[in-house]
Amino acid sequence: MPATSVIGAQWGDEGKGKIIDLITDQADVVVRFQGGANAGHTVIVEGNKFVFHLLPSGVLREGKLNVLGGGLVIDPAQLLSEIDQFTERGIDVMSRLAVAGNAHCVMPYHKTLDALREGRKAGVPIGTTGRGIGPAYADKAHRAGIRMYDLIDEQRLRARLEANVEEKNRFITQVYEGEALDLEQVFADAWALGQRLAPLVTDTGRVLRAALDDGKHVFFEGAQGVMLDIDHGTYPFVTSSNSDTLGIAAGAGVSPRRIGHQIGVVKAYCTRVGAGPFPSELFDAQADHLREGGGEFGATTGRPRRCGWFDVPVARYAAQLCEFDGLAITKLDVMSGMPEVGLVTAYEIDGETVDEYPVDTTLVERAKPIIEMFPGWTENVSAVRDVADLPETCRAFVDEICSRVGVPWEILSVGPGRESTMFRNPARRTADPTPAGGVSS
Ligand code: IMP
Repeated sequence: MPATSVIGAQWGDEGKGKIIDLITDQADVVVRFQGGANAGHTVIVEGNKFVFHLLPSGVLREGKLNVLGGGLVIDPAQLLSEIDQFTERGIDVMSRLAVAGNAHCVMPYHKTLDALREGRKAGVPIGTTGRGIGPAYADKAHRAGIRMYDLIDEQRLRARLEANVEEKNRFITQVYEGEALDLEQVFADAWALGQRLAPLVTDTGRVLRAALDDGKHVFFEGAQGVMLDIDHGTYPFVTSSNSDTLGIAAGAGVSPRRIGHQIGVVKAYCTRVGAGPFPSELFDAQADHLREGGGEFGATTGRPRRCGWFDVPVARYAAQLCEFDGLAITKLDVMSGMPEVGLVTAYEIDGETVDEYPVDTTLVERAKPIIEMFPGWTENVSAVRDVADLPETCRAFVDEICSRVGVPWEILSVGPGRESTMFRNPARRTADPTPAGGVSS
């Protein structure tokens, strides 16, 4: 059976959490392959709220193996606090989770450095989530990182920390005028966390290849989105990993040939958190409508998200890069009540009309949106369960998106609940719609 991937096709927060939660009932294995606790989504099942930053979405379902792959940077304290939170509610996370030994650890000095770098006077702040993601990936590339395998080996951990803490303290105190960390404390805390995580640490690449060989259905769960990809997004206003299909093979330890079906998730409009170019951004009452209606506040940081119209060149670029088979279009309900809805169809850059997304970020910064407006819909669509029952204007808007992006829709979402979903192919409909459920991401 081919593996399925669910990837954000904008700047993250497209509603991947709901889509993944819905279709993981068909998965045997759910895998995160990049990023860390910068991701965030909330799942509500039968009135219980679960906040995810690191754990794959499949942990809520019995009988699924959940994998944190080698491409992640994992904050051990955050991971254990999530495990504890879920375990206290009767979910046996420890029996459903495997953690890659070659994944890197986010250490306290990474979080300190993330905060200090963002606060420095020189340079442009990225508006990071403050979770230590960039500094942890920098150490990985610098060959100074601490991997899960090191965290669970006392001597290796001590040696790696001795080398790191001394160097990081010099940076923290001399470059950023921050407060030094205490080596013994960092070691004692890390070792205690490592001992608790040790039973989960394994060669997850081997586990995944074997699962695929056995015909198991593996789901790859993207975090962030294409436009936050370190190589293909709006650099430098990006996260520090390949946050799209291109990151799956390296981050999970499987060949790219294994990735079969690819779902790109887009919101019917766009949002972005943090700094960086965002050509379709709105600043008026329309932005407020989307922000308030869509609950557009960061799941990890609580920051209000910047809101704008659906950006066709961005989504088409993402689709071409990842070769999506189908789109999941989310939050159509949020646009209800807008007299007109817009699509950014091209940009004007230095007096020229540009149809395709330019990879040079400075051009994106100068891009003025060329917007086409379409009639909106006043009806509340959140109770619609059949595409034929959507207002004609809403269906026409969906068709415009799909034909311009060049990918058919596969899933339409009109509300946070599992039941507020339409599948083009009803065979993919979840067998377990929980009316009380809801997901925001
Ligand atoms: P970092 O990943 O914390 O280093 O942040 C880098 C950029 O990515 C910032 O603009 C963040 O707001 C953004 N970012 C990171 N994770 C997410 C996410 O899960 N959703 C949306 N934006 C994110």
